Amino acid sequence: MVIGEPVTHSLSPLLHNAGYQAAGIDDDFIYVGGNVKPDRIADFVAGTRAMGIRGVSCTVPHKEVIMPYLDTIDPVAEKIGAVNTIVQKNGKLHGYNTDWLGTIAPLNALTTLEDKRVVVIGAGGAARAMIYGLIREGALVTVCNRTIEKAEVLAHEFGCHAAPLSAIDAIKGADIICNATTVGMREDKSPIDSQLLTPLQIVFDAVYAPYETRLLKDAQIAGAQIIHGTEMLLHQAIAQFKLFTGHEAPEEAMRSALLDHVGTGSMQ
Ligand code: ATR
Repeated sequence: MVIGEPVTHSLSPLLHNAGYQAAGIDDDFIYVGGNVKPDRIADFVAGTRAMGIRGVSCTVPHKEVIMPYLDTIDPVAEKIGAVNTIVQKNGKLHGYNTDWLGTIAPLNALTTLEDKRVVVIGAGGAARAMIYGLIREGALVTVCNRTIEKAEVLAHEFGCHAAPLSAIDAIKGADIICNATTVGMREDKSPIDSQLLTPLQIVFDAVYAPYETRLLKDAQIAGAQIIHGTEMLLHQAIAQFKLFTGHEAPEEAMRSALLDHVGTGSMQ
């Protein structure tokens, strides 16, 4: 199941159930959403143990607060500082993070990351998972954030560079630009000036609603390659699917369920 507050708009039930069906395991697995208030997390964890719920996806605002209630935390989730996946085995709750794979898998499908200059825009939770994954793959990361102090904290923690959002040269000179801010979500705005985009770049937006964000539209006009936010959502779910079920995820069936649902032109 997925927990969040709010959780109504979560696409995780759609993604996982489409996967169970395509993999022929929908008799054994069903995935639902649950709205859990932050002050009820302890109750939720007790209920998960009592009911023997096999797996839980955590979204905002639970990814950090749930960590002390779990029996083990995977070292990667520890480093990122957030758990988006919980698996129950023999009555023990194990916490993982698959968000970083949501960044790395779609990028690795287009390019190698070793020694690539990557600008991550944003310094919140989404940025942390992205930065972890990119550095792990050998990329040269610069974190650009509106509030430079937050970028500096992340740069210090992960061993990369920090710059303000006005750092034109860093952004223009990047091989890859990743948006980890909320700018563009259900609004026609981009976190950066379209003049900074070039045909040589790959531009990846973590925002998936709308499907074509202003940043991705600008990137296409500039001739850059683009990666939609839906790919990040898909790949973090694919990694969860394996942890929850032990089966390989049916990637194409899950992608097509997701794209059918979000539509490709609407402002969701
Ligand atoms: P998440 O957990 O989804 O990453 P978050 O922790 O609230 O969400 O972080 C949101 C990010 O979007 C931050 O980097 C924020 O910049 P600040 O640190 O300066 O607040 C960034 N962000 C939000 N609105 C923005 C805007 N209008 N312009 C630029 N950056 C913005």
